[in-house]
Amino acid sequence: MPRMPTSFMLPLLVVMAMLSSWSSALIAAEDPADDKDTKVKTVQHIRPEACKKCHEEIYEQWKGSMHANSSALRDPIHGAFYQKVMGDPKKEGIRGPQIPVKKDKYPVCLKCHAPVAAIEKKTKLDAKQAYENGTSCVVCHSFYEFKGTDSPKGKPWYGIDAYKYDTKSLYGPSGISYTTERTPEDAKWPTPVHHPQPMKGNKAALFKSNDACMGCHDKRKNAHGTPLCLTGAEYAKEKSFINCQACHMAIVSVPKLEKGKVVPGEFVSIADHSMSGGHDGKMITRGIALSMETDKKKDGTIKAKLTVRNRLPHSYPTGAPFRNFFIKVTAYDKDGQELWKNYKVHPIKDDPKSAFWYAIGEADKKKPTSPPYATDVLKDSRLGPNETRDLEYEIPKNDKIAILRAEALYDLLLPPLKHKMKGKLPEDLLKSKLAASVELRL
Ligand code: HEC
Ligand code: HEC
Ligand code: HEC
Ligand code: HEC
Ligand code: HEC
Repeated sequence: MPRMPTSFMLPLLVVMAMLSSWSSALIAAEDPADDKDTKVKTVQHIRPEACKKCHEEIYEQWKGSMHANSSALRDPIHGAFYQKVMGDPKKEGIRGPQIPVKKDKYPVCLKCHAPVAAIEKKTKLDAKQAYENGTSCVVCHSFYEFKGTDSPKGKPWYGIDAYKYDTKSLYGPSGISYTTERTPEDAKWPTPVHHPQPMKGNKAALFKSNDACMGCHDKRKNAHGTPLCLTGAEYAKEKSFINCQACHMAIVSVPKLEKGKVVPGEFVSIADHSMSGGHDGKMITRGIALSMETDKKKDGTIKAKLTVRNRLPHSYPTGAPFRNFFIKVTAYDKDGQELWKNYKVHPIKDDPKSAFWYAIGEADKKKPTSPPYATDVLKDSRLGPNETRDLEYEIPKNDKIAILRAEALYDLLLPPLKHKMKGKLPEDLLKSKLAASVELRL
């Protein structure tokens, strides 16, 4: 047998090993369509569970991700906002109430949060699994071209509007050619590799660049033109060369799964589809670093200089406008008894320099409002891409002070929202999470 490059042999071997479990299906015919009475007519309706058969590890990562939970029926935070501004996600034809949508228009949220419903201009999200499943496998993998997020007329293109997508074929980045026909077991190149759903592996330029993410993560404004989310714009300003996938889809080696069980001793190396962010207590620790120096003045006051660094090519925190973090500086005695703290209730009120948040609202009233009503940006004190900021604290003389500790605490929601949502959201989503800390023994 002539020597073949291993990069080609590997997928071929995997495919061969899978021969036994094949059906001659075109579009997952062995998997019933979401609607019991019809066959899957477009790739957008193939269930993620159909992909799970062979991509179990990727499926499990995706299943736990916010992409799998992006629809109003799955994400309790988005669900609560959506219900309030757009209406009942289980009803057809909703248009409002808070954001009045013209009769011929469609609720914009779904273009990113439930893209298949948006493609089909439906709002009853429990009507089809594809709507409820939000940003599922077939959403991203049916994209074949990124159009950009600004239409030629200067109107924003959000989510699915920013992409050209196929309804008959899926796409991937490897450069391999696929066929849905069975290929002989001893097939050699140039025979294409089998894939049960139509698949073209020639879209590296899309899948290995930020283009794969920007349609939904670039920027978004409300009806008054006030920017709500700016991740892409932040990144563009930084002129970074690292793509989103480098951090959000790192190559990870995970235990091989077969029918839900770990295959002992076997691992697969895959692009991590967990795509974690603010919801992940570990991910939030990756971008931020704290260091601290102290100086004792003659009168016994302790001067502490805290340096906060953002190590990311986008803001920290980035994303939804209510993401925020704050710095808690505490002086303790040798037994850990608290002697001094930099705020009483919350730094937003008591120590503004220690609060990193994005305030939007009405400029004339200088009052923050909820995103749909904001007419202006009042303040953006989040750490910009790669920004380093020094904060100074003066701690009054107290001879018992033995430990000085600073913590960065991350919140998905701003304090007033947390307060409002108490009892309505799972407790875990309302808890501040430790993103970084530094401690000095004096
Ligand atoms: C948010 C968009 C998105 C979603 C949702 C998504 N993928 Fe991907 N997928 C990508 C991107 C981007 C890559 C390319 C990563 C790279 O090569 O840097 C990729 C790569 C892959 C690969 C290539 C193998 C590898 O490890 O590189 C497979 C297989 C795959 N995805 C399957 C799936 C399956 C199955 C699901 C659903 C369970 C899914 N994807 C959901 C964006 C997505
Ligand atoms: C019967 C097994 C099987 C099923 C079912 C299956 N795949 Fe695959 N898929 C493979 C094999 C084998 C490869 C090639 C090796 C690899 O990359 O893992 C592959 C490759 C891919 C790739 C990489 C394409 C490239 O070369 O760039 C993507 C993306 C992908 N599959 C997505 C999906 C999605 C989405 C589904 C569900 C709609 C799905 N697959 C269902 C077996 C399967
Ligand atoms: C079709 C739209 C779409 C595409 C394409 C997309 N995403 Fe997302 N993504 C979303 C939506 C919607 C959410 C928010 C879900 C929620 O919180 O309700 C999200 C959430 C996230 C989060 C935040 C998780 C958290 O903890 O809050 C990260 C990180 C992320 N996506 C990364 C990526 C990356 C990296 C890519 C490109 C490889 C990508 N996304 C492509 C729609 C998309
Ligand atoms: C150097 C690593 C790195 C790169 C590159 C990177 N990110 Fe992030 N990203 C992070 C970390 C760490 C976090 C968690 C802290 C935060 O929210 O800022 C994060 C958070 C996020 C979130 C979560 C926001 C939320 O609401 O919870 C989104 C969305 C996101 N990134 C999108 C992107 C996109 C899109 C790109 C490419 C333009 C990108 N990131 C590039 C590391 C990175
Ligand atoms: C351009 C795509 C896009 C549109 C349009 C969009 N969103 Fe989002 N939304 C996202 C992404 C991406 C995230 C998660 C990452 C981040 O924070 O940026 C998100 C996050 C959220 C969150 C936070 C969810 C959580 O778990 O904390 C809420 C709430 C939300 N969106 C509500 C809405 C509402 C309501 C609308 C319609 C009025 C809407 N979004 C329109 C892309 C979009």
